Parts: sequence; structure tokens; C-alpha cells
Amino acid sequence: MTFTKYGLAGVAAITLLACENTQIAETPVKTPVAVQELTKDDKFTYANYDEVRMTHLDLDLDVDFDRKVLDGTATIDFVKIKGDAKELVLDTKDLTLKSIEIREKDEWVPATYALSDPDPMMGTKLTILLLDDADQIRIAYETSPTAEGLQWLSPEQTAGKTHPYLFSQGQAINARTMAPVQDTPAVRITYSAKLRTPPELVALMSADQDPYTPRDGEYEFDMPQPVPAYLLAFAVGDIDFKPINDHIGVYAEEYILNAATEEFSETPMMEEANERLYGPYLWGRYDLIVLPPSFPFGGMENPRLSFLTPTLVAGDKSLTNVVAHELAHSWSGNLVTNSSWRDAWLNEGFTSYVENRVMEDLYGEDRAVMEQALDMEGLKRAISEAERPELTHLKLPDDLTHPDEAFTLVSYIKGANFLFFLEDRFGRDKFDPFLKKYFDTYAFKSVTTEDFIKFLHDELHVDNPDALTRAELDAWVYGPGLPETARKPISNAFEKVSEHQAAWLAGEVTAAEIPTDNWSTHEWLHFINSLPEGLTEAQFAELDSTYSLTGTQNAESAFAWYMQAIKGGYAPADASLDNFLMTVGRGKFIYRLYQALKDNGREDWGAEIYARARPGYHPIAQRRIDNIFAEE
Ligand code: BES
Ligand code: ZN
Repeated sequence: MTFTKYGLAGVAAITLLACENTQIAETPVKTPVAVQELTKDDKFTYANYDEVRMTHLDLDLDVDFDRKVLDGTATIDFVKIKGDAKELVLDTKDLTLKSIEIREKDEWVPATYALSDPDPMMGTKLTILLLDDADQIRIAYETSPTAEGLQWLSPEQTAGKTHPYLFSQGQAINARTMAPVQDTPAVRITYSAKLRTPPELVALMSADQDPYTPRDGEYEFDMPQPVPAYLLAFAVGDIDFKPINDHIGVYAEEYILNAATEEFSETPMMEEANERLYGPYLWGRYDLIVLPPSFPFGGMENPRLSFLTPTLVAGDKSLTNVVAHELAHSWSGNLVTNSSWRDAWLNEGFTSYVENRVMEDLYGEDRAVMEQALDMEGLKRAISEAERPELTHLKLPDDLTHPDEAFTLVSYIKGANFLFFLEDRFGRDKFDPFLKKYFDTYAFKSVTTEDFIKFLHDELHVDNPDALTRAELDAWVYGPGLPETARKPISNAFEKVSEHQAAWLAGEVTAAEIPTDNWSTHEWLHFINSLPEGLTEAQFAELDSTYSLTGTQNAESAFAWYMQAIKGGYAPADASLDNFLMTVGRGKFIYRLYQALKDNGREDWGAEIYARARPGYHPIAQRRIDNIFAEE
């Protein structure tokens, strides 16, 4: 179908909303969503959300594992922001649309609509002609088996081997591969859903659900708090549940359920620390789901149900900062949301900051500083590898080529360090209540970097004008690299590790003589990451035979070691690295490992492993690694 324009939407647009939180008077609104006034500043959506806004999505879907599709209807409630708006524009990607109806005066009639040509990143723009008194659209559709936001696993790809598994990943712009939506973080919707699955499987969503719902193949969900479309999430499989307390628990395949519940047993303390600092958790239950190993992230903050990689289950709670991180998104990100991916640091930088504050609260300053120091090393590397300086600004440029470019350590760690800087300048006694007020003021809203800067100015800076200068602030937000005012985290534990490492490198002690017995994973990571270039094969072998680094079960340590092995040409690690790449799909590890193989003269071997591993990887990981091997 070709695109047709239905006449001009009218220049003298009347804005019905005078201020935030006002509801449209003329249009019947079915859901109590506060419609925020917004300017359109998200180039990764087709939606005309400055004119017409979705407010509620109701899904009624069959989860068809034979055809690997979601098949059913999406019913969309909307309100006109501009009274004379003529069309509703939605994002879709790889959806097969079967019918589109519009409801006017309680009657469903076929709608007039048009589809653009598909764009490989953005998908297909769906423009639906509105009728004067219409307030709902119903779309019958099905997803594609290759939808980037869905991974369909065969029974053989699961731990249990007998049932298939499906999970979704909406962030950043893949909600549109699951349902027609206004796929921008600027638009919030409530949602309800009915999913039909094979009766022996459980369906879960980022919504209200009872962990003890019997398995019968029919599941209903309600998400009464408005959330951006990227937080719409499903998981379907042979999934069991184990509680941690009365409102926190773990979902996982049976093989890992007990271990995961033990690993994450301190989640209630994390929640309490968060609440002490930033106010009540507003979402009801908080559950965790441990996904299959192909999940391409460490974690994903789907509301009420964080998604986690199984590589966090290390046995010693050493990697639980990721849980602190996903939980912290319940304030920064899910409650107060970046209005476009250019402002991703408002989600990820704030969250990384809160994560570290919570880790300090629970485990003390030493662990918090070790995590800051490891992060700072990563940030320096990311800055040095940036393709252009603008990509190291917190406020990202308006010509990002893909939202992926917004999720580097710049948003996370430069963002967190900007907040450390503000904390240091204003003091915790002022900064903590300020952040709490920020979450409160912007709850269930979308914010821009400029909104935050104005809030900072009005709420904190005017009363403390000497705390920082405009130039210092601009260097953080609109300037490249790491500002000189950044904290320099110094971990005493790491200093000691470095001293032992230096003695070993100088040949003064053997590897076995280094007192590593009480080293935490963090100390090991510092030791491995800071190994100098040019280690001899004998030095690699000495470390490896003393400490069994090749094949280590801690995924972070394994990753750090394999990076060094690739750069140093240490071939005895090859078989274990191959196995790691075949069994772990977490992007943070595998993208850099493949890139390192390519950059260190082992492209053919890397490509050979990838050819074997690719069918098991998530579509997002497939796209990213295809690009690594495609680039010259
Ligand atoms: N929201 C992110 C994951 C994400 C980012 C998904 C961009 C899609 C696009 C999540 O909160 C996250 O940051 N996860 C990190 C862990 C964290 C401790 C840094 C990860 O996956 O490694
Ligand atoms: Zn995050």
C-alpha cells in the first residue's frame, strides 16, 4: 500500500491542554492518564504525539509457538492534544496488519489508513484517519517470527529441554515489533492484556500478576500505572516462582530457581535503602525473572518484574549490583522517564548513581568505591573509543543514527559521575532531599536534560550559588570527555592488589605467593583488567595454572580474562572462550569479545564461532554482531 496524505491537519491548532496534569474536557477519557504537554523531540518515532496521544493499550493475543507469532488484537484508546488533529500515527515494525477499525459512537467501522515503506531501523509508519468523535482504534495483527523484540526459544534451547520459551525486549525501539504503539519514551500508556498460551506454560508481564495463578493457558494482566511503551514486556515458558518476602520473589526455570533466590535474597534490603533515600516504591510487587542465557542484557527494568541474565547467579552475591540497578529504575526511568533517547543519561546515569548509593548503604563504602573505580576505568576506555566527541556528551546530539549509540558508559558512568560531582559540591544533606523531590515532582512524567537543569537551578543552585559555576555544569552536560572536576575514586583494596601485581610482574614473587585468598570478585576484576600489555605466554600460564582463570564460573571474571587472553594471544584459553561464546548471550560480554577477536587477527576464528552461536543469540545480539563482522 502506498502512502496517501489526507489533507492538512490545520495550522490554527487549538491546544486543549493549558497545563500539565489537565485532562481533556471535550473528549471522553477512559483511563485516568495525566496527559503531559510535550514538544516532539524524538526522531526514533513516527508518532504524532504532539497532536494525538495514545492513553491505553488492550492486547488480546494468542502466543503461537508453532508459528512463532503473537496473533490477535490491539485496542488503543487515544486523546486529541490538538482539537483539529485528523490522523493518529503509530509505529509498527514487521507486523502483519489484518484489519483496522475505528469506534465512533459505540460502533466499530473499518478505518482508512496508510502504511509507509518499511525502514530497516524505524519500521513502518501507520497513519490512521480519525473520525470526529472517535476515541478507539482496534487493530487485528500478528507479529513476525523474526521480530527484533521477541526471542522464541525451542525446547532444546531451554534448560528444561521440554517446553519452548518466549521473552520480549522493548527498549529502546522494539515495542513496535510486538504491537502497534507510539513507541517513544515521551508517551505513557496504561495497559491490559489477555494472553493465551499452551496450558502447561506460564505467562508473565510487566504488570500486576499473582505469582500463584494456576497454569491454565489463559492469563490476564493489568498495568494501571502509565508507562512508556518500551516497558511493555512478556515472558512465557515453564517458569516457577519462589518468594523472597511477601511482595518480592523470583521467577526462573527450575534448574536455577533456588540458587537465584539465594543470590538475590538481599533485594528487600535494596528496596528499603532506595525507599529511605528517594521515597516509597510505587509499583506494588517487585519480582525478578531469571531468563535463559541468550537474554542480551545484564538486566532490564520492566516494571514490577525486572528481567535478569542468569550470569548474575555467581554463588557469592558478587554481581547483585545489577539487581540494585534494575530496582533503582523504579524511580529513575520508570517513574521519571527520559523524554527521548538523546537524554538517556537521565535514565541510566541517575540509575547508576542510585545503584551505587544503595550498594554503599548495604555493603559499605569499600565495595561502593571499588565499583566506582571499575566503572571509571570502563568510562575512560569508552570515551577513548568514541567514534565522535559528541557521543561523549551527556546531552547527546540530534543526529544519533540508532538509539544504541545512547547506551554507552557515557550515559551510565559519566552520568552517574555528574551526580557524584553535584553530591560532593552540595553535600548529601542537601542533594539527597533534592533528588527525592525531583522524583516526586516528575513522577509519571517524561523529562529532558533541560528540565533537570532548570530544576537543579531552581531547587538547589539559587540558594547555594557558590557550589558550582555554569561553565562547570556545561562541561559535564554539553561538553566532551570526562570533566576535570570528576571524582577520582581510590580504592585501598585495589591499591594493594596493584602492589602485589607489580611485585609479581617484577619477578619478586610468584603468582602463588600473592595473597588472593580473601579477594572479592571486584579485586580479581581489577587485577585482571589492569594487567599490562605484553605478558609472556609463561606469565599467562602461571596465572592460569595457579588460579584456574580459564573456565572460571564467574562470568565477569571470565570475560575480563578472555579479553586479556585474546589481546595477549594466549591460546590455551581458546576452548573455554569458544564455550563461553556458545553459551552466554549477554551483549556486554560477547560484543566486545567478538570485536577483540576481529581486532587481534582472529577474525576468521571469531566468525567461525559466531556462525555456530548465532542461531542461539537474541535478534538484537545478531544485529549487533552482524555489524561487527560486516564493518571494514
Ligand atoms: N535499561 C538497561 C538495559 C538496556 C539498555 C536495554 C538499552 C535496551 C537498551 C538496563 O537497566 C541496564 O542498564 N542493564 C545493564 C546493567 C547495569 C548494572 C549497567 C546491563 O544490561 O548490563
Ligand atoms: Zn539501566
